[in-house]
Amino acid sequence: MKKKARICVLVSGGGTNLQALLDAQSAGKLRSGEIVFVVSNNPDAYAIQRSRRAGIETMVISGAQTTFESALLSTLMRHEIDLVILAGFMRILSADFIRKYEGRIINVHPALIPSFCGEGYYGLRVHEAALARGVKVTGATVHYVNEIPDGGPILLQRAVDVYPGDTPEILQKRVMERAEWIILPQAAEMVSAEIIGKDENND
Ligand code: GAR
Repeated sequence: MKKKARICVLVSGGGTNLQALLDAQSAGKLRSGEIVFVVSNNPDAYAIQRSRRAGIETMVISGAQTTFESALLSTLMRHEIDLVILAGFMRILSADFIRKYEGRIINVHPALIPSFCGEGYYGLRVHEAALARGVKVTGATVHYVNEIPDGGPILLQRAVDVYPGDTPEILQKRVMERAEWIILPQAAEMVSAEIIGKDENND
């Protein structure tokens, strides 16, 4: 019987969502899971420093889709990973890869899905699109990953107001602080609890 779900976090950039997960772990809010490994597809990602500072084993995996995914898959298997968290991960994973971890990959998206999501909507672009459309409320979503970009079942959402004069950068920061950094650790705990529950039943 497993006590905690073994979590791998995938990152590409600044890693503030990774930080929120690490902070939740140190604060004892991630009771059912443990972040055991971090993978970055970008050797220059600041997220790598955050992860190393926290003493988490960290690896950079680059390369084209097939090379990247086969290296990632063998790494996940070697570390007996139960849950993969995409935290600011800017690559789209293939349907083939996702099928192998069905129900065990979650992603944080900086908008209220189904708005401003799918291919081409990532990072600041999401907030640029929200401001261009003139929405008064936006937010963040944590969802299971399936073969449709940003299309998997929704786990948690949190709304954030848009204010007159917002720039994409200001809005991004507000959405992170008031939504992403809150719901991502919550979802990580929810899914981890479900996974260890599932495994207990199977054991
Ligand atoms: C976050 O806003 C995250 O939701 C978004 O990129 C930012 C990464 O920041 N992810 C996507 O757009 C993925 N589709 P971080 O590296 O500081 O966590």
